[in-house]
Amino acid sequence: MSEVPLLTVADFEAAAPRFASHRAIEFLNGGAGEGVTLRDNIRAFEQIRLWPRVLRDVSRIDLSIELFGRKLNSPILLAPTGYHKLFHPEGELAVVRAANEAGSLLVAATFATTSIEDMARASSRPLWFQLYIQPDRASTARVIRAAVDSGCEAIVVTVDIPVNGPRDRELRAGFKLPEGVIRENLRHMGVDLAGAPHRPVATEVYNFIRAADATWDDIERLRASVKVPVLLKGILHADDASEAVRRGIDGIVVSNHGGRSLDSAPATMDVLPLIVAAVGGRIPVLIDGGVRRGIDVVKALCLGATAVMVGRPYCWGLCVGGEQGVARVLQILDVETRMAMGLTGASHLGGLGEQLLYNS
Ligand SMILES: Cc1cc2nc3c(=O)[nH]c(=O)nc-3n(C[C@H](O)[C@H](O)[C@H](O)COP(=O)(O)O)c2cc1C
Repeated sequence: MSEVPLLTVADFEAAAPRFASHRAIEFLNGGAGEGVTLRDNIRAFEQIRLWPRVLRDVSRIDLSIELFGRKLNSPILLAPTGYHKLFHPEGELAVVRAANEAGSLLVAATFATTSIEDMARASSRPLWFQLYIQPDRASTARVIRAAVDSGCEAIVVTVDIPVNGPRDRELRAGFKLPEGVIRENLRHMGVDLAGAPHRPVATEVYNFIRAADATWDDIERLRASVKVPVLLKGILHADDASEAVRRGIDGIVVSNHGGRSLDSAPATMDVLPLIVAAVGGRIPVLIDGGVRRGIDVVKALCLGATAVMVGRPYCWGLCVGGEQGVARVLQILDVETRMAMGLTGASHLGGLGEQLLYNS
């Protein structure tokens, strides 16, 4: 992979530009606008202090969790990220294999460059599917059907990007999909559209493959139309979390799209307690944005998150070493989480809570 030791997620971040194109790295690392939210996600984790307890038996540390009846080895999930073939020629299949190896769960993206059918065939473990509601609801229904028929065990509807955010870095880098790399789940739209520039051609505000007119009624219809759990990704407000529960949604992902959507939206860790309080344990609350270390995983779980997701970290792994790189990043996070648990005095995830936070 690299002659320099890759000990941390930050080492992978630093190494990634040597292995992927400038355009791909700008797309991957960039946030919206000035990057205020992107930085704030990290700052919010850094501000929290863990308050360790001693002389508790931590000779066996168990990171396993159960989500919607499935046992997972780890509370660290792989967030949906588009266009993996920009980062490594094996693209999504390398990520599927690494997630399998880790016993973790991958949320496959609508904007994957490998079809959900091919990803599911390559996976020995269940996948979840991330959905963008498209302007054409018939096309949306077709994508959902493909995901469910492929065996995806949950649909994660991303709701935080109804219009484009100003992605200055990727625009400056002239980001576009290389020849032959297309959004395979949208192939039915025709190769020209499925492989069209990331930026819409018609207007700069709207995106021709993400609906700007979606409302709670779409969500309720979607909830009623599938048998698998439906989660909403991109919830930042307690009232939206309550509404989601009221509409029968099965889980929430507290997310600001990794700082890629509305710049100056709050850091996810800052709003997590409000959302956990609003949900009151009725459905799982996941969180993403800025998780870079095992201590971050422990902090999020102490604040009431059921699990965390990482986006950029495993993409950096993919750039650096394909399947092996993703596997190593997941392993680093797993080992660091075990260390953080043991040093905090917790042997299982149920032992994490606000009592282990110093400034709560
Ligand atoms: C390169 C890249 C592509 C992404 N693509 C999608 C996507 O297609 N759908 C989606 O819901 N979120 C997408 N996201 C957001 C991630 O799911 C996740 O919310 C974010 O990466 C978490 O922040 P982190 O990168 O700091 O871990 C993307 C993020 C990145 C970095």
